[in-house]
Order: sequence, then structure tokens, then C-alpha cells
Amino acid sequence: MSGRISREFIDELLVRVDIVDLIDSHVPLKKTGNNFVARCPFHAEKTPSFSVNQKKQFFYCFGCGASGNAISFLMDFSHLDFVEAVEDLAGFAGVEVPRESIEYQPGQKKEDLNSLYLLMEQVANFYAEQLRIGDEGKKAVEYLKNRGVSGDCAGDFMLGYAPDEWNALASRFNPRLLLDAGLLVSKEDGHTYDRFRGRIMFPIRDKRARIIGFGGRVLDDSLPKYLNSPETSLFHKGKEVYGLYELLEKNAKPQRILIVEGYMDVIALAQFDIRYAVAVLGTAASQAHLDLLFRFSSELVFCFDGDKAGREAAWRAMDAAFSSLKDGRQIRIMLLPQNHDPDLLIREQGVDGFVGRVQGAETLSEYFFGHFSNELNLSEMEGRAQLVSKAKPYLEKLPESVFKEMMFARLKELSGWDRLDILENAATLALKSPSKIGGKRPQDNGRLSSARVAVALLVQNPRLAELLDQREIDWSGLEFSGAPLFKNILNMIAGKHPTNAAVLMECYRDAAEEKSIKALAFLDLQISDDKVDVVFCDAVNRLLIQAREAGLARLLDKDKTKGLDAQEKELLRKMLTGK
Ligand code: UTP
Ligand code: MN
Repeated sequence: MSGRISREFIDELLVRVDIVDLIDSHVPLKKTGNNFVARCPFHAEKTPSFSVNQKKQFFYCFGCGASGNAISFLMDFSHLDFVEAVEDLAGFAGVEVPRESIEYQPGQKKEDLNSLYLLMEQVANFYAEQLRIGDEGKKAVEYLKNRGVSGDCAGDFMLGYAPDEWNALASRFNPRLLLDAGLLVSKEDGHTYDRFRGRIMFPIRDKRARIIGFGGRVLDDSLPKYLNSPETSLFHKGKEVYGLYELLEKNAKPQRILIVEGYMDVIALAQFDIRYAVAVLGTAASQAHLDLLFRFSSELVFCFDGDKAGREAAWRAMDAAFSSLKDGRQIRIMLLPQNHDPDLLIREQGVDGFVGRVQGAETLSEYFFGHFSNELNLSEMEGRAQLVSKAKPYLEKLPESVFKEMMFARLKELSGWDRLDILENAATLALKSPSKIGGKRPQDNGRLSSARVAVALLVQNPRLAELLDQREIDWSGLEFSGAPLFKNILNMIAGKHPTNAAVLMECYRDAAEEKSIKALAFLDLQISDDKVDVVFCDAVNRLLIQAREAGLARLLDKDKTKGLDAQEKELLRKMLTGK
């Protein structure tokens, strides 16, 4: 894990590996016609609706909508992040991943990272050892016992104790590494001392079990109550959560994951055998946190104290929540009674009471609209107008999905304003239903419009862009729905030269157009290989004629009604004279 992976390598890898072999090695496939099928690994089903297309190098599930190329498959199937999936795929292809030479930090070498991980492990063992030694250790164990933490549970979480000394670590481990690991603090005069002293220690592990940081709690009421590792080359608290490794140890695919605020909440819940909680580390949940957690479960439940600060924290989490909610993902919000955290609540109400609350937690949509209903007076027009202006920015963060449309529908209903559509993203609307591309003209007669055939063929066979290059088409003044996407794809192909549809899709990973590109890639046009070029040219010809007519008609119409500006006049002249 060091250096950047080059775009070229990823593209080449996608061409080298056959997605059918790759998926077949995880989920046995059966050939039917042009496709290979199986029961979908991403949702429960009795009859196969998961299909892999060899020519396009894509998979698609007609049941749950899971889709993508070989990298996407590994990310979803093996819960990997992008880099890990590329590494895995390279392993499958039997090639090494070459790295560009940008390392984590200037001058930092891979060996250094390995020695940092090793050091963290040794320090955690040292801290754990301290619980078994001397009076201080006894006091720490006593504290944990008082808080209801058993020896087993402390072992699962590798809890420890940092002795109340200034130089416990520096006298035992390499000071330079300790400093890099954030375990020492350096003073202005160059002297250093141990960051964690006289504290219960909570090692923070990444999902591969490596210790990347620590949290430490005092045994009494002194302040600060908790100290956390600073940002280091191993530890980024905006991306990591506490308890994920321990959770995955018990259950690699939990039905849901609970997001709580404190270290002790995770541990108390584990003590009651609720093993599906993680804590964000003294920050608000970020989108990176949520994307990480959604790799392991499709349902996240936020847990907040019901007091004012807790409710405010819940609202702050909405930004990240809305951005991460793709179809198939679900978020619930659980507000606890005032001044309760999960640690306290589970001791008060027991497992059944607690789990009942988890199951009854409000869905994001209930919570979101409920929040506004409390805050605004929706019986007045002013209140409803405010609802629209406050809610809309959140809804716009939602990735294109059925859920997004339903949320907009609910907003229309609550506000009584049915013209929200004019504010919706025009590009999305254009692609929402196939028949809308190119307009819903009667002569389409259920057949696909020229625009849709042309753009779908282009996505499925990026090489076709060459045929357009040769014709030097002037796109200005041409009007058809989906035109921006069409031009966007042409630009992408010109810039990145993708060899096939899977590589083109990779160029759009996480882009606004990703979903549209996927939909176009899967469109079954039923055109045999030898006819592709002809059909494409024909579709483009018809598209150009229609688009030109539409552009011309609009200009002429505007000329009659409102008049044209200079630029439009010039365009009209060009279109009429052909030069
Ligand atoms: P809390 O004070 O609610 O933690 O802070 P808690 O786990 O309930 O604490 P106790 O042990 O039961 O009293 C929640 C989280 O906020 C961060 C820590 O990550 C903590 O777990 N925090 C809190 C800090 O980083 N520093 C602090 O001084 C306090
Ligand atoms: Mn607490």
C-alpha cells in the first residue's frame, strides 16, 4: 500500500482480465445465450437474475440493480476499497501493481510504515501488560470492573493501561518511531514525553487488525477525559471508526451497524453481546465513515443522546448521510432519552429494551421531514416555502435513485408545491425514462430514439467515436435531450481513449453521470456485431437531422416572439446557410 496506481495500469488490467472468469471464481456462473447468469450474491433470491455480459465486461442484477465492472464486483463482493480491489484483481491476473513514486509523506518509506505498525502492536501489548502489574494496574482493572467490563471483553478489545510516567515508552521503544506514531509529544526545547499517562488505553484497529491509533481515558473526573492519537501517517480519524475490526471478527456481514459516540459505548454494548456497534472518534460522522461502513452492511443506525447537543449532532450527520445514500442503503436515527448514552441505557433497560429501540428507530425520511414539521409551521404558506428551501439542498445530495425521487415526491406533497420538477436536475430527468430521450414523439412508437441508440452504442463501443471524429461535426445549435451527456462521453473518450465499455465506465466511477453510463451500457439493443457501425452511423445521421431541425425551430420561434441576440442571429445564419 504505497504510491499511486496509474490510470493506464487500471485500464490495462480491466482489458486483461475476463470478468466472467473473475466472477465465476467467486460465484459459479451458467451460460445462457449471450450472458452468464447466477443467483445474485448481493441479495437473496431463488431464481437467477444476476447476469454477466462477456462482451461488455459488466455484471448486472435485474433484481437488486447491483452493477459494474470487475473492480466494482470485487469492491462489493469482498468489501474492499478501490485500491484493495485493484490489488486483488492484479493478483487474479497474476501481475504486480506498479506504483507511481508519490509516497504517503515526503521521504516516508514503506518499511517505515511497517515498522510503525509493528511498534503500535508492541506498545498495545505493553499497555495490556500493565493491567496485570502493580498497584496502578490493579486500580485500572478495578475501574474497568466498576464500569462492568469483564476480562474477556477487555481482551477482545485489547484494552490496556498507560502508566502514570513521563518516559515509560521512550525508555523501551525507538523514540523516532514513537514520535512518528504520535505516542510522544515533543516540547519546544526538543525534549519529549509520553502522550498517554495514567489512562485506560483503547487501541484503534483498522479492518485488517492493524493498530493505527489509541484513545485513552482518565480514571477519575480530571480533564481532558479522553485523549486520542493525533493524525499520523497511520491514523486519519475522519476515515476510521472504533470497533470495526472487533465487529467484523464476530460477524463479517452484520444486518446493521450502530454508530455511537463513545469508546465505552462500543464496549458496553459488546459486553451485552451487541457486537454491531462502532464509534466515530470524537468527530461527526463523515461520508468516508459511512461509505466504509456501508461496505459491510446495508443498514446504519445513528445513535444520539436525545438532549439538545445530541439532536444538533444528529442534524449535522445529515450532510454525510444524504450524500452516501445510494439505492439499497438505509439509515435510521435513534435518539436516546435525555442524558443517556448507549452504555447507560443498556444497563438500565437490558438487551431487549435496547434492541427494541434499535428496531424502532426512525427511518431517515421520517426523521428528516419530522424535524422540519417540528421546526416550521407547515399550515402556513411561509412555512411550506421555507420547507422547500431548507429541505431541497439535502435532497439534492442524494445520488440518483428511486429513494431520491420518493423524497422529492414527499417534499412536493408536504409543501403542496407540485412544480419542484422544474428545479430538479435536468440531466437526470432526461435519462429517467428511455422514451424521454429525443422527445416523446408519436412516431417513436415505443422504439428507441436515434439519440438513445447512438449514445448507447457509443458507450458500449467507445471506438465508434472515431467515426464521428472523421466527420468533424459542429455540435453548436444542435438540440436533443441528452445532448450534454453525449458530448460529455465524446470528450471522455477523446481524453482517455478507453478500449471498451468497462474501461469507459471506470472513467466515470463516482461521477454524476455514472448511473446513466451504466444504464446505457446495459441497454440491450439487439444489434449483431457486424451491424454496429452501420446502425450507429444511421442513428447519428437521423439524430443530426432531428437535432438541427429542433434547434432551428426554436431559433425561428424565438426570432418571432422575443427576438434573437447577436450570438443567436449568427448561429441561425450559420444553420440556414450551412457555413
Ligand atoms: P463522552 O464523554 O460521551 O464519552 O464522549 P463516553 O464514552 O460516554 O465517556 P465515559 O467514559 O462513558 O464517561 C464521547 C466520545 O467523544 C470523544 C471520545 O471519542 C469519546 O468516546 N471525546 C470525549 C474526546 O475525544 N475527548 C474528550 O475529552 C471527551
Ligand atoms: Mn458514557
